[in-house]
Amino acid sequence: MKIRVELKGSLKDNSYDIFIGTGILSEIGNFLKDLGVKKKVCVVTSKTVNDLHGSNLESRLRADGFNPVFLLLPDGEATKSLKYLSFLYDELIKNRFERSDHVIAFGGGVIGDIAGFAAATYLRGVNFIQVPTTLLADVDSSVGGKTGINHSSGKNLIGAFYQPKGVIIDVDILDTLTDRELKNGFAEVIKYGAILDEGLFLYLEKNYNEILSRNKESLIYIIERSCKIKSDVVNKDEKEADFRSVLNFGHSLGHAIETLYNYENLKHGEAISIGMVFSAMLSKELGLCGDETVARIRKLIENSGLPSQIPDFTAEEYINAMRADKKIYDKEIRFVLTGQIGYVTLKTLNFSVIYDFLKKILKG
Ligand code: NAD
Ligand code: GLY
Repeated sequence: MKIRVELKGSLKDNSYDIFIGTGILSEIGNFLKDLGVKKKVCVVTSKTVNDLHGSNLESRLRADGFNPVFLLLPDGEATKSLKYLSFLYDELIKNRFERSDHVIAFGGGVIGDIAGFAAATYLRGVNFIQVPTTLLADVDSSVGGKTGINHSSGKNLIGAFYQPKGVIIDVDILDTLTDRELKNGFAEVIKYGAILDEGLFLYLEKNYNEILSRNKESLIYIIERSCKIKSDVVNKDEKEADFRSVLNFGHSLGHAIETLYNYENLKHGEAISIGMVFSAMLSKELGLCGDETVARIRKLIENSGLPSQIPDFTAEEYINAMRADKKIYDKEIRFVLTGQIGYVTLKTLNFSVIYDFLKKILKG
């Protein structure tokens, strides 16, 4: 069975298409030729992805006359660092990559973010293609042009908005992803439905089992719909002046949880799952939605095997961690809240409101 979906780019400047399907990797040469990619390409990937899919990609590229240079990075968030960025620059220079050449990010969000930032900055910007390999990268990080690395003071503090020239999503690559990583990406899909698309949310409520069992048609459906939602948001506010931050639904508490756990214990999608339930509860407290919205978000998250219970830190610890987040100004925080499913609103809240609510719902 072959399924093919093409999302036409709609960004005013720097528009690009997203190709989604099964077995697409076997035709990557054609996609690259259509995108005007020259023979010499730099493929940035991780050790795990390379072990599983690198030789397949390499042989496809060579069969189509490309001459790829593979650059391997270690797995894990720590790779998004100056050390490995510097390694990429060294290799790009050593291999004499030019402005008109292309960097291909072949991996999850970590690889996409660092390879994208290297492409954005090397020679003041070389061409860049995303070939995501995790569900999270398919539905979120490969689209929208956020690239960057971490700093010891926080995640994603150094970066650039830099759109790829194209995104090629082969859902067959998800076959090798662990169930936990699949659910990690699924949390972001729940997020899109909860804030911007009730139809998608309904679909997830009915079909979460099939999706998490990797039914290809349903995976393609949710990836396409997620990419479309994200593209629409990015189209309205590419540089996150304001509206794009609705995509941070669940992230304020989610980031705080990740910080308090020192990025161990929970994956990002797991932390924002808890954050989404919290945001829905806070929305209800503020009179923006009823019990049903909170119950539906909680139920879908729990049915999908994602966590919903707020970990046992104190209200003070949560507030301090939220204040350290880069999106926070003074005594207030721009918080993403929900009305009924599919509706989102941004409100500037005083930290005291969140503190009081945390005190109310936490035991201590
Ligand atoms: P990841 O890139 O760390 O990948 C998770 C793990 O899965 C890694 O060990 C990786 O090697 C492995 N893996 C990747 N593809 C695989 C496959 N097909 N089969 C088996 N294993 C595979 O994690 P992620 O969740 O994809 O991305 C998280 C990163 O994305 C974070 O750094 C986050 O900040 C970033 N992010 C960026 C954006 C953005 O808009 N740029 C959005 C969301 C998240
Ligand atoms: N992941 C949120 C964004 O790209 O804006």
